[in-house]
Amino acid sequence: MSQQEDVFKKIVSHCKEYGFVFPSSEIYDGLGAVYDYGQLGVELKNNIKSYWWQGMVLLHENIVGLDSAIFMHPTIWKASGHVDAFNDPLIDNRDSKKRYRADVLIEEQLAKYDEKIEKEVAKARKRFGDSFDEEKYRATSANVLEHVAKRDALHERYKAAMNANDLDELKQIILDEGIVCPISGTRNWTDVRQFNLMFSTEMGSTADGNMKVYLRPETAQGIFVNYLNVQKTGRMKIPFGIAQIGKAFRNEIVARQFIFRMREFEQMEMQFFVRPGSELEWFAKWKETRMQWHQALGFGAQNYRFHDHDKLAHYANAATDIEFLMPFGFKEVEGIHSRTNFDLSQHEKYSGKSIKYFDPELNESYTPYVIETSIGVDRMFLSVMCASYKEEVLEGGETRVVLSLPPALAPVKLAILPLVKKDGLPEKAHEIYKELRFHFNCQYDEKDSIGKRYRRQDAIGTPYCITVDHETLNDNCVTLRNRDTMQQERIAIADLDKTIADKVNLSSLLKKLK
Ligand code: GAP
Repeated sequence: MSQQEDVFKKIVSHCKEYGFVFPSSEIYDGLGAVYDYGQLGVELKNNIKSYWWQGMVLLHENIVGLDSAIFMHPTIWKASGHVDAFNDPLIDNRDSKKRYRADVLIEEQLAKYDEKIEKEVAKARKRFGDSFDEEKYRATSANVLEHVAKRDALHERYKAAMNANDLDELKQIILDEGIVCPISGTRNWTDVRQFNLMFSTEMGSTADGNMKVYLRPETAQGIFVNYLNVQKTGRMKIPFGIAQIGKAFRNEIVARQFIFRMREFEQMEMQFFVRPGSELEWFAKWKETRMQWHQALGFGAQNYRFHDHDKLAHYANAATDIEFLMPFGFKEVEGIHSRTNFDLSQHEKYSGKSIKYFDPELNESYTPYVIETSIGVDRMFLSVMCASYKEEVLEGGETRVVLSLPPALAPVKLAILPLVKKDGLPEKAHEIYKELRFHFNCQYDEKDSIGKRYRRQDAIGTPYCITVDHETLNDNCVTLRNRDTMQQERIAIADLDKTIADKVNLSSLLKKLK
């Protein structure tokens, strides 16, 4: 197991051990790619959602919210193209009987070439030491150039096959590249087939009157079909946006990597309606705004990158992903798409109703163009966990596990700990707890030694702990301990709120967004 795989395994078990994420239906041996959020997970998830919601709705005068239903008229999914084209190319290995996404197998092969290139460079760096000229080496090393050429050729072939929806060619690429099944190790592949990802169910009680309905695979369509309701009742003027957070469902072929790819997940989507012709300018603005939102969390700019799409959906004229460096590589957390007027035009066509916007400044009606920002709550949750999980070796050689969560996202902001369970200290600690709980999420803990309690709070990412000791009863002061520095200071109880609130409340994070 690679070191990174090992770290990821630890994060997954940490999530379970401390009540962040549990496998769904665990006592029945679980349900593939479905997870439940525990007592701390739900707090962290809610904080992530608030950060997004307030970053969108509170900080933008021209963005409002929406909460549309999961069930929608089935024709919506016909109009949006999901019934006919929301497919993944799947391939089975006949020996292991395992199913894979053909595109993912090829993308993993591309990543292998990149790894080989980086390994060559790392080896040379070690060999040449300070005199190493990396740029020159990359441009001249025969080995590096060979890997680059193979990677680029594969990339071009893959791009062409995906754009042409050529399933035979996808299979041929897998065969030509010698890609084997990770389980059986063989190349005994079936043909590549298309697989629709939507879940469906029946609505209505009589057998003949039933209607097939879908569990929405994205929240966006609920926004499109309501855009004119919101525009008219909210007196919105273009450009304006509608934001929504809600569940989405996809029958993913390969569900792997914990909460990265789930069958039931949550999205935070914002559709921004603009004048035709101005969409690429807005696309660039939203790219920047969204990247800033991510980077304000302080995990380091080097952990993010844009990945522009090779294969544009037929309705998009620009698309990019914001990727985050997870222990299993750079992975998509958010998609930003310039969707033209495709969705709105389709809904006009299929519903037979005009949903054009009348622009009072231009004195004309048109179907707006749309920039979409779409981020998965669960993927965001995973990226926050991965970036925050740390094992630190302390001075005495002891190891502490700490979740260095951004304080504004931490489930518990302050732990209130009486030094001992007697002498009136629990009563005093409870008194402080009862006052501060109105300001932020506090936890009272009196069990075990103070050292153990600090470790427990470190492991769940609590930015501050206070210890109530015998002196507190005389001087009304407590010891305030900082999670990251582990430094302690004596502070008056009366000053706790103003000292802590500023650092742990969401507004501290929101103020970093320009
Ligand atoms: N409305 C556009 C849309 O749904 P998408 O790229 O398919 O675009 C947007 O999905 C985001 O939703 C992704 O960037 C990812 O964060 C999240 N997402 C998509 N499928 C997911 C899955 N199976 N499990 C968890 N998150 C998922």
